[in-house]
Amino acid sequence: MSQYSVLLVDDEEDVIAGFLLTGMVGILSGCSLRQTREAESIKIGVTVYDQYDTFVSQMMEVFKNYAGEKEAETGIAITIEMYNAADSQTTQNSQVESMINDGCDVVCVNLVDRTEPTTVIDMAEKNNVPVIFFNRELVEEDLERWERLYYVGAKAFESGIMEGEIAAAAFQNNSSSDKNGDGMIQYLVLEGEAGHQDAIVRTEYAVSTIVESGIDVEKVGYAIANWNRAQAQTKMAQLLPEYGSEIELVLANNDDMALGAIDALKAADISRNDWPVIVGIDGTDVGLEAVKKGEMIGTVYNDKEGQAQGILNLAFALSTDGNLSELALEDGKYLRLPYAKVLPEDVDAYLK
Ligand code: GAL
Repeated sequence: MSQYSVLLVDDEEDVIAGFLLTGMVGILSGCSLRQTREAESIKIGVTVYDQYDTFVSQMMEVFKNYAGEKEAETGIAITIEMYNAADSQTTQNSQVESMINDGCDVVCVNLVDRTEPTTVIDMAEKNNVPVIFFNRELVEEDLERWERLYYVGAKAFESGIMEGEIAAAAFQNNSSSDKNGDGMIQYLVLEGEAGHQDAIVRTEYAVSTIVESGIDVEKVGYAIANWNRAQAQTKMAQLLPEYGSEIELVLANNDDMALGAIDALKAADISRNDWPVIVGIDGTDVGLEAVKKGEMIGTVYNDKEGQAQGILNLAFALSTDGNLSELALEDGKYLRLPYAKVLPEDVDAYLK
């Protein structure tokens, strides 16, 4: 039986809200473990910016499964202390402090504010606890501030290019997608958080890829919906009365926002034949289902398995023998997993 355990820590009350999925809790002796090379147990701290974010929460589920497998494979007990920062950097800074005080060998931080990693970095360096930042990328200058800082994520521009390719192919393969027949694509963008590396870069590369494929485009509108399905539905519902019939393409920075646009189209009783082409990014379970149903023309797979495994393997290596040579880090600090296009014909393989 797997011995790995997960401590879910309530951020406000600072109490353990629920824990121990299976087996035993590792008893740890704080800092001493950090110097032990032949560990019998390790403790990994994780804080996510928002536990209700669909992609991040699915990635964390996979991460916990990998921890169980790693424990079975190595015989080293792995305790995961998991926190939700609930969109507050101040809360997240306190969580990192608690993880360090609790003797975590490594802390994995999904920054709330990717421009504010200073407090986390200073605490980690002072206590000599390595940090793996993930999914929300800090600038290189910050990552360079101490040698034991790492980043695991993906190449944002690649997802934008793939989204643009999927959209361009949809118009090249089906001329009726150009609803008004003016030879241009009238498009709408649903953007993630302002200032997030994936939002800025995905939009830019998706649009430039469509243009480079020889298709003229015209932007009819955009809305920031913070990766969130309900917010995207609200924004789309506001845009539909004004632009509804003009919109031929919805480029969403992620699947949840693409699904929010679909929710709005359904709520407005717009006939399926009149829907714009809709493309997302992530390949979440719900996103893949929408591709399978033909509601989204395609999505771009954000490799949550690869990223979760990368974080886990790096955390494990940093907590045990410190040998990072098998991890193929770029510049000794970065692990970036590739994206992949998911079209209706590929979707079953991903749903499995
Ligand atoms: C992106 C992902 C979004 C959202 C965001 C959170 O990579 O595509 O759906 O999860 O990260 O930082």
